[in-house]
Amino acid sequence: MARGGSHYVCQSCGAFYAKWQGQCTACGEWNTLVEESAPPPVGGKKGASAPRTRGGGLDFVDLHGSSAPAPRRPSGIGELDRVTGGGIVPGSAILIGGDPGIGKSTLLTQLVARLAETGARCAYISGEEAVDQVRLRAGRLGISAAPVALASATALRDILPALETDNPPDVVVIDSIQTMYLDALDSAPGTVGQVRACAQELIRAAKKRGFALILVGHVTKEGAIAGPRVLEHMVDTVLYFEGERGHQFRILRAVKNRFGPTDEIGVFEMTDRGLSEVPNPSALFLAERRDNVSGAAVFAGMEGTRPVLVEIQALVAPTSFGTPRRAVVGWDSGRLAMVMAVLDARCGLSIGAQDVYLNVAGGLRISEPAADLAVAAALVSAYSGEPVPPDMVVFGEVGLAGEVRQVGQTDARLKEALRLGFGRALIPARRAGAAQGSSGLTLTEIDRLAELVERLA
Ligand code: TYD
Ligand code: MG
Repeated sequence: MARGGSHYVCQSCGAFYAKWQGQCTACGEWNTLVEESAPPPVGGKKGASAPRTRGGGLDFVDLHGSSAPAPRRPSGIGELDRVTGGGIVPGSAILIGGDPGIGKSTLLTQLVARLAETGARCAYISGEEAVDQVRLRAGRLGISAAPVALASATALRDILPALETDNPPDVVVIDSIQTMYLDALDSAPGTVGQVRACAQELIRAAKKRGFALILVGHVTKEGAIAGPRVLEHMVDTVLYFEGERGHQFRILRAVKNRFGPTDEIGVFEMTDRGLSEVPNPSALFLAERRDNVSGAAVFAGMEGTRPVLVEIQALVAPTSFGTPRRAVVGWDSGRLAMVMAVLDARCGLSIGAQDVYLNVAGGLRISEPAADLAVAAALVSAYSGEPVPPDMVVFGEVGLAGEVRQVGQTDARLKEALRLGFGRALIPARRAGAAQGSSGLTLTEIDRLAELVERLA
């Protein structure tokens, strides 16, 4: 029963309810409502340890002020700088989300060590590990000598005064926000109320004192711990660190960035000495490819400004249940259904009655429509048993009428394919008058999806 002033908060999306209910009507998640007895913090007003700014009123300034853009702090880790847009902006708040164990602490330990070497004053505050454990990791990463200030703490009452000095650090890492708590709130660390209030206090301190704040947030499926989703609108930059557990590749992706691009990815490899950069991901993603197997096509994709070649694998198998199974890893299942429907309705290829499995090899997640044609090629090849030529890359968007549509950055995609030793490309027919510069590849330009089926079936 809700006592006076208490309420229920969805741990998944942060919606408030006066009474408990089994399902959150805002986000549709089940069993995510948790009772919190303090009122929702407004401007962190209950934070006893948080001095408020003095006086009232506003000091307006001119838009065309003379404050020069703050210099960024490049870390020297190229893959990370690419994603942040050239380095960390002082005074900004960055959230790094990801599954537990994916390597967030490792990445940030390496980051602060590199920044410290360039002269930045860095503080690493861990709420999850004891100081010795963090030291142990640094030793394993070979960076114990870096001048990083280290602390193990979870109470903001202790942390905030250390940061709100006249001489604060330049970069502060909080690992993780789910372990932090404000004692002004009754709820447990990790609940939406605590996570939100702690982040608010830390961000306020960062803006006021001008240090860059990096928050680690665990993403969990169950919603037992508040997902970092409730923080996304509070911070300037949201990065996700993702990858398949079984793979050594890790991908850092910006989903929100006030100071840079959101379509760049950084690729890392988890080794026994920490994360190493992968400046040339295509070679890595294609490393385990086998020639002349059916059901595989190499997609020449773009991730931001960088072309990335990946193998798309499909398996078409007779269904043993009433409803055919669909399993997709690394791509959108709605998009797969569309490509299959077009193959069925426009090309007479009835894959739909069978089980279909689709996998983007290497653990990359693709969101470009340009992958349609490569997916179709993998599906048709899996269905017919006819391999896609091993030296061929494929890209193009597929429309509902069965037409193959142009996609952007054709030249960059072809250039990467040539660099990696491919000889042929299956691409959308280019408009008359479009630049037809020699790509060095043998190009097959198609206009309709049916042409692909004719070639591979
Ligand atoms: P960690 O950074 O602790 O993950 P997170 O902070 O996201 O929970 O990394 C955990 C995994 O990384 C762990 O399974 C061990 C592995 N790892 C390595 O393979 N090599 C290394 O050098 C380090 C430090 C960790
Ligand atoms: Mg960690």
